[in-house]
Amino acid sequence: MSQAKENAALAALDFVEDGMTLGLGSGSTAEIFIEKLGEKVAGGLKVQGVPTSSGTAACAKENGVPLIDVDRVSKIHLTIDGADEVDPLFTLIKGGGACLLREKIIANASDRMVVIADASKMVEQLGAFPLPVEIDPFGMALTADQIYQVLQDTGCKDGQTILRQNAEGTGPLITDGGHYIVDCKCGVIPNPGETAHFLEKIPGVMEHGLFVDLASVVIVGEEDHARVMELSRE
Ligand code: 5RP
Repeated sequence: MSQAKENAALAALDFVEDGMTLGLGSGSTAEIFIEKLGEKVAGGLKVQGVPTSSGTAACAKENGVPLIDVDRVSKIHLTIDGADEVDPLFTLIKGGGACLLREKIIANASDRMVVIADASKMVEQLGAFPLPVEIDPFGMALTADQIYQVLQDTGCKDGQTILRQNAEGTGPLITDGGHYIVDCKCGVIPNPGETAHFLEKIPGVMEHGLFVDLASVVIVGEEDHARVMELSRE
């Protein structure tokens, strides 16, 4: 387990209060958080979690974190999730674990989103990490062409789209929602808000991995401590 990720996950526990409904993110850092949360639950903390993926649901069950069905929830106080890249305005690239659609639904419905990440995820400009875009399998080549065009038109250096394969190498990866993921080599994304806006206009795009104006706290894990950074979203 990376010590930096663990330090970020541990610091996120300070944001959790008794009685909260929590959005539980996906990925290795989020899973460390869930393990630590499970220890608190065993010690008497009362929370319920809304998982952002089937993997997260399994992890929460393993660690004794109670879950509530997303369709039975009217309020999510706080979501804790990882990220693939974080820029100085807390705009994120997410989706390295292929869970971006559900992650965004939950983050967007939450009062607050706290990102936990090791220091390697902090960047001046987004785009070195290929941007994941979740698409409907129907007409995927047409959709991929339009994504390429949007990335070119909004100033990304490249835009090449690559259909993500499953871990077994037997075909395209299928997300929890039954969609495909294309990973887009951008190089740089100079205007994330604009790129996000135009990607959202493509009918076959279910969701993209740019999280704009969602995170208000970023906890950066280092080897021996964690740095908490906050941004007002009032
Ligand atoms: C999953 C994600 C993850 O949060 C992201 O890939 C970071 O993962 P990790 O904590 O394993 O580095 O967006 O869709």
